[in-house]
Amino acid sequence: MKSTASAPGKVILFGEHFVVYGSGAILCAINRRITVSAEAITEKKIRITSDVGSLDMEPGIPACDVGSSLRSLYHIADTALRSHGIPGIKMAVKSDIPAGVGLGSSSACCVAGAAAVSGLFPDSSREKILELAVDAERTAFQGTSGADCTVCTYGGIIRYGAKSHEKIEPGPGFGLAVASSGTTHSTESVVARVKKFRDANPAEFSRMCDAESEIIRSAKGQIEQGETAELGRMINQNQQYLEAIGVSNQTLQEMVRIGQGAAAGAKITGAGGGGCVFALTDGGTGAADAFREGGYECFAAGIDCDGLIVFN
Ligand code: MEV
Repeated sequence: MKSTASAPGKVILFGEHFVVYGSGAILCAINRRITVSAEAITEKKIRITSDVGSLDMEPGIPACDVGSSLRSLYHIADTALRSHGIPGIKMAVKSDIPAGVGLGSSSACCVAGAAAVSGLFPDSSREKILELAVDAERTAFQGTSGADCTVCTYGGIIRYGAKSHEKIEPGPGFGLAVASSGTTHSTESVVARVKKFRDANPAEFSRMCDAESEIIRSAKGQIEQGETAELGRMINQNQQYLEAIGVSNQTLQEMVRIGQGAAAGAKITGAGGGGCVFALTDGGTGAADAFREGGYECFAAGIDCDGLIVFN
């Protein structure tokens, strides 16, 4: 039996980094996907193939000893083998989400992988799949807030809090132009840098967390009402906090200025230190044109409303 599942990438509209410390976040699933298929095999093996490499190992190895970028998928397969007493699992990954650029490729991979493997057995729910996906993501990045996996599972735009999340229905004219700096980042090391900043500047960091929570509270209504100008102002404010905690750099700053000059607002998405920025547009192509004129690859991201799709 074979099981296949697909999950979308994401853009973080508000709250990356601060969400790790409980401030919440607003995220948008985008129309770029990762698809994972899983199949039970009779050999005592976990075999994974993907565009970024492959893995062929015995089951039962602690995830921390699996020296591969496919460690989180290994963990998902190994967990299933232990619970269901089958000998082995083979998985294949196909992605159209670039890795390490803040667009949720690792979370989408964990969600699609958890769903594909769970689909080999009875009784899997989205909640259980999300739990397994976050657990798997922790094998790559211990401190994950779980926000990325949540939006990859449920799709659409969500306001994420540590205990709950809710969908936000966008008003008319909500558009995103996503531009790439051409460099990647390690989320884990950027998050560790932010922790150092927080430890050295607790009062300043706490003030920014409070301000970020306030932005997130009011942004929900602005998204629903399609208040692009006000949303853009809040996105720019959020970007200032990201610059203050040290996750921007010269290239990202230049890109953000291009986006802010051509659209209502622009900021980094995801961990920063490299990766992508996005501009909030009203559906027009001005920001995308400006990014391209500046020499940056860019695409118009649509909202993915489906989230996780399981095909079997
Ligand atoms: C990474 O996409 C977002 C961070 O806030 C980390 C996390 O929430 O797990 C930097």
